[in-house]
Amino acid sequence: MRRKVIAGNWKMNMLPADTINFIEGLASRVKDTESEVILCVPYTDLFYAWHATEGTNIHIGAQNMHWEEKGAYTGEISGQMLKSIGVEYVIIGHSERRQYFAETDETVNKKIKAAFENELKPIVCVGETLEQREAGKTETIITKQVELALEGLTNEQVRNTIIAYEPIWAIGTGKTATSEDANNSIKAIRNKITSIYGDVAQDVIIQYGGSVKSSNAKELFETSDIDGALVGGASLKVDEFEKIVNYNKN
Ligand code: 13P
Repeated sequence: MRRKVIAGNWKMNMLPADTINFIEGLASRVKDTESEVILCVPYTDLFYAWHATEGTNIHIGAQNMHWEEKGAYTGEISGQMLKSIGVEYVIIGHSERRQYFAETDETVNKKIKAAFENELKPIVCVGETLEQREAGKTETIITKQVELALEGLTNEQVRNTIIAYEPIWAIGTGKTATSEDANNSIKAIRNKITSIYGDVAQDVIIQYGGSVKSSNAKELFETSDIDGALVGGASLKVDEFEKIVNYNKN
């Protein structure tokens, strides 16, 4: 049985003091969950988050990394640097990075490999635009993104990769894919992984992302293949995020 993995992506929000308050508020409220709880915070909050989560079941993730270990890459942060301050997860290839910062399937693949070299677990984002969806290309686009992202990984690395299916038209828009639609896309991704890597696909966590909130989390999470969520806006409020984590307790 795959566990649920519920990750907040704070994007470019929250200062260190907000981070500490948030984690202090959340920790006791999610301590009994069977799900994995992750907060992917801005670089400047990571160190504070590491300390604030000590002794809790909340894990820390970054939102990006460079594929090289060190060198003349002004403004970049490496996997080794993240690992050195308690980071366990890293989001790779978020659509905002693909759209605004020229991430490609190739850089995504390099970053995933570098994440594993540094014992970080990647949360790899894929998803189609509205235009691609309306042209009936959703499955082709997302399965190709997954294939290219995972290229050259070992079966064990694939098993430890988290995939976040985030349809771009659903991000920050209040529009959520129906649970059936999202589940079908995720099934298509799982089938693709099966066709390349075999049974290991049954262990791969595949999340949904895009306007997930406490009012729709349960329905999404009760489907056959959606293994949790990558949550943007709703992860910035303790109450709302806690309800998503505890979706099965209310
Ligand atoms: P929203 O939940 O704000 O739609 O953002 C989704 C997302 O991009 C998470 O990575």
